[in-house]
Amino acid sequence: MSTPKEPPLMEKVVSLCKRRGFIYQSSEIYGGINGFWDYGPLGAEVKRNLRDTWWRTMTREREDVVGLDATIIMHPAIWKASGHVDTFSDPMADCLVTKKRFRADHVDSQSGVVYRWTGASDETGKTSADSFSALLAPGKPPESARKVGVQYYTSRGLTNPTLQGETTEKVEDTRAFNPENGAQLTDPVPFNLMFHTFVGATATEADKAYLRPETAQAIFAQFKNVLDSSRQKVPFGICQIGKAFRNEVTPRNFTFRSREFEQMELEFFIAPDEAIEVLQGSVARWQEGADLSAPQPNWGWEMWHRYWVKQRTEYYNGIGLGTDVLDYHWQTPEELAHYARACVDILFKFPFGTEELEGIAARGDFDLSQHQKHSGKPQEVFDEELRAAASKLDDAAKATFVDRVTGEWAARAEKNKKDVETARIAAREFCEKLFKGQYVPHVIEPSAGLDRLALAVIAGAYHEEDKTDVNGKTERRTVLRFHPRIAPIKLGVFPLLKNKPELVAKAREVYEQLKRHLNCFYDETGAIGRRYARQDEAGTPFCVTIDFETVGEKGDELKDTVTLRHRDDGCQERVKISELLGRLLPQIQ
Ligand code: GAP
Repeated sequence: MSTPKEPPLMEKVVSLCKRRGFIYQSSEIYGGINGFWDYGPLGAEVKRNLRDTWWRTMTREREDVVGLDATIIMHPAIWKASGHVDTFSDPMADCLVTKKRFRADHVDSQSGVVYRWTGASDETGKTSADSFSALLAPGKPPESARKVGVQYYTSRGLTNPTLQGETTEKVEDTRAFNPENGAQLTDPVPFNLMFHTFVGATATEADKAYLRPETAQAIFAQFKNVLDSSRQKVPFGICQIGKAFRNEVTPRNFTFRSREFEQMELEFFIAPDEAIEVLQGSVARWQEGADLSAPQPNWGWEMWHRYWVKQRTEYYNGIGLGTDVLDYHWQTPEELAHYARACVDILFKFPFGTEELEGIAARGDFDLSQHQKHSGKPQEVFDEELRAAASKLDDAAKATFVDRVTGEWAARAEKNKKDVETARIAAREFCEKLFKGQYVPHVIEPSAGLDRLALAVIAGAYHEEDKTDVNGKTERRTVLRFHPRIAPIKLGVFPLLKNKPELVAKAREVYEQLKRHLNCFYDETGAIGRRYARQDEAGTPFCVTIDFETVGEKGDELKDTVTLRHRDDGCQERVKISELLGRLLPQIQ
């Protein structure tokens, strides 16, 4: 008898998520809706904990970052200015036989022999002059490619078609065929990912608005208001957590690529390097081993960018995602957006592969400049210290400065295939304003996905253990080893026996007392081992059991103490009820 095959890890994670109430398919009773997911009781707690840890780390524990909570639907001009209306699209290709839709850049690269037909005819005399091709993978018989050809012409209305004008050609690394059946795909066409809706009752094109595809743009659009109302000064950041919507061509890998998801984004505004140079005399640029522990006044964008990569890595480490499960991808110049100076993706080793969790981009002044241009409202800041420092430069020093900056901007324009003369003019205008103490801030943007992070912490926490009971029976159990900060339930509270009123009363008292400070779960049903197992599967890091010692039946010394059991090593210790909070809170906050 063959041993049944173990389901792969991702399948087990998905199944646990449903069984224990972490994540469900949206609208499941109606067959679900692709790319949309709901969070059950435990999942909602995990997400809330992630949101809270992010918000606390990114703003409450910092003096230089403030929060924002903006609307999902904003003025459509925002998305024109940001470039989303014109360029926020993915290439889409359809299978000519099954009509299945693919993201063209996600189709697996394949090699083999392409069978091409100029057309087909059938027994009724019907013909088709459409050419069609199919890829034959190595080792497969030519008939399988011809079968796909027949399916194509059948779908064009021919009965038992005979293929015509067959030619063959060897190809390598093509993405032009459906990897599932070898059929030709349509040429890729851009597909805009923004969902749209209509604001107001008339629903004309003039009322068209978009569900935001990222939270970042609201931060740029409100930059001036926040600056004027928060008493912040560059360098400072504005962060936001909220829903984003993208009509992804192929949502996939459970919640990893969804159509509705949450983002946690920071826009950290810094002075351009040229301003730092005028203010500080020189600019600190990144070099291996540079000290990133505390921001310095002479930091240029490279140092700020590296600083945020370090900060974000420390955040992940602090919620249990260590260096063993993280990786980094520094985008190559070809991958970078035209306005970006650098971008690093923080990756997580998901069961389906190492994929992006967060992107940290140095975006220059692109966003605020775009909004300045499109809204007509200045987005510049004024820095009196900068104006004073510039006034101390003599004319020769200013001229040298302007020449150098102009040369640098022109070189960058040339590299990015932009108009060099326009860049020179812009550089001179920029320097003129800089000497008056004015500039449009540059931005470093750490942008993370909350749902991806929830999936990462659930997949990372998933462990299986073989446990042998007193009768020698071995059972495989699931344990979610969440970091206590992220665990949905922090503490299980159990009376040892449910038919002993004094134990139940004391357990309820402990539960009532602690639940105001941490998320507790009261459970009195089943053997104590079962109750521990249930909490292990939910990822609860601590459980306390109220027993006869607690109620003083074994003497005064143990009265008002409980058994505190630790999930990860199963260790148990006696702890005074009055000391429980002091022991647990530092580990979960
Ligand atoms: N403002 C920059 C921005 O939105 P992005 O790389 O498109 O950048 C940032 O998105 C993060 O948002 C990603 O690293 C990912 O964690 C999350 N994200 C993006 N698209 C997503 C999707 N379809 N489903 C789930 N999370 C997504």
